[in-house]
Amino acid sequence: MSATSTADSAALLDALRGIAGAAGVLTDPQDTAGYLQDWRKLYRGRALAVVRPPDTAALAAIVRRCAAAGVGMVPQGGNTSMAGGATPSEDGRQVVISLARMNRVRDVDPVDFSLTVEAGATLKAAQDAAAAAGCLLPLSISAEGSAQIGGVLATNAGGNTTVRFGNARDLVLGLEVVLADGQVWNGLRRLRKDNTGYCLRQLFVGAEGTLGIITAAVLKLAPQPREVEVALCGLPSPEAALALFTRLQRSDPAALVAFEYMSGIGIGFVLRHIQGVALPFAAPAPHYALIELATPRAEAGLRTVLEEALTAAMDEGDVLDAVIAESGAQRAALWRLREEHTEAQAREGASVKNDVSVPVSRTPELIRRATAACEALIPGIRAVPFGHLGDGNIHFNLEQPPGADPAAFLAQSHAIMDTVAEVVRGLDGSFSAEHGLGRLKSYMLPLWRGGAELDAMRRIKHALDPLGLMNPGKVLPEEPPAE
Ligand code: FAD
Ligand code: MLT
Ligand code: ZN
Repeated sequence: MSATSTADSAALLDALRGIAGAAGVLTDPQDTAGYLQDWRKLYRGRALAVVRPPDTAALAAIVRRCAAAGVGMVPQGGNTSMAGGATPSEDGRQVVISLARMNRVRDVDPVDFSLTVEAGATLKAAQDAAAAAGCLLPLSISAEGSAQIGGVLATNAGGNTTVRFGNARDLVLGLEVVLADGQVWNGLRRLRKDNTGYCLRQLFVGAEGTLGIITAAVLKLAPQPREVEVALCGLPSPEAALALFTRLQRSDPAALVAFEYMSGIGIGFVLRHIQGVALPFAAPAPHYALIELATPRAEAGLRTVLEEALTAAMDEGDVLDAVIAESGAQRAALWRLREEHTEAQAREGASVKNDVSVPVSRTPELIRRATAACEALIPGIRAVPFGHLGDGNIHFNLEQPPGADPAAFLAQSHAIMDTVAEVVRGLDGSFSAEHGLGRLKSYMLPLWRGGAELDAMRRIKHALDPLGLMNPGKVLPEEPPAE
């Protein structure tokens, strides 16, 4: 049965209210609006309802009821997806399932270095709980105040500390998941070794809600750092950024927790649009790197490591100017120059995002070649590459030409994305590094991962979600009609 008629929909909504309570089922447009549009405002969907279950058992019952009605389900966390992954379709026949009420930190264990947390807790809340127990949850993204653990895992988020601690996937010891048929898989194990068949948890990480709904997780923690050093460097070129990164990796690889690249134009946007930020140099530079070193070792002498590396890099001409933060407030001020990039770009006008990766050694080539290709495609376009150079993950974002019509610029999104993707392909990279595919990039999957890889993905999808009701239309493109 599929909930196509008004009577079917009304019966489904009644059943959902019976499970989640009247306050747990939102249908008033004023209440649902915030759940139906993505953060970038690229997509606006409609939904039968937004359902907010209080716990795993209720969520499982909701999934069983929706599955029986043939209704598609769109899991949603903090709704900060950069790829439209959490927005329902426009036909109004899907249900958004918000995890926001399931937000408890269940356990922090400083001996096992593990944190058991429900999917609706924000990343920031999980970090704070770890810190309160004297530990570090080593994952950090600019959206951490809103992004939730479920969304972070479903997208396999990367971020600022991936260079040292890996992506979200690398921090997952265990998961609890509601499967597409409403069964609950409790895999909340905190084991460091557990070779017991296929590694199910890693299937759900990065699946963007297309295989099941994550309800809780056990995450790996690390010791809290005792020494932290943050520096901002002005650089002459992207090649110098790579040289500086390599130098730091060689001097103390365990201490390098962030190496972020920014262009002169990106810093210029931040200075123009964000209040209370300042560039700590007498003159602007064409390129920048933000570096963080941290270690739990006492008296590790990180300041000396950093000063020696920067002095040597200056002697080689790889660093034009550098400032090292002298306090927590100064560290935060330097980080703001990096973290406000997304907001500043949004205020500057329309932009097209390309979250891409290449081998780290090829990042300067990516920046140069993609800039030239985009400038040839649209005269006046402004390339604003920035991000996680230490992971080979550059956000190769393109800002509209000054004064251009934003809508006309955005109409060229696919041409721009395909131009960047072509350069990335030539550098043995990936068209999606950390933000996922969502709705935005699923069309690119056959070209990049077609053949055996896409075939295997489709089989996994059919096996775990035979009715195709888990986040329909995301990640996998529609199947070609059978011959
Ligand atoms: P949502 O946007 O709600 O959902 C994202 C996807 O996960 C959707 O497909 C959704 O259906 C699915 N999903 C959500 N919850 C669940 C669940 N419980 N079970 C199964 N599926 C679920 N990303 C990075 O990787 N690195 C960054 O540095 C980074 N910086 C950002 C900075 C800003 C300012 C913004 C706005 C975004 C940034 N992002 C970054 C992108 C985004 O924040 C991440 O993808 C984040 O992990 C999404 O979390 P969320 O809770 O908002 O998920
Ligand atoms: C970030 O690293 O700040 C986000 O992933 C970037 C973006 O806006 O593309
Ligand atoms: Zn990023």
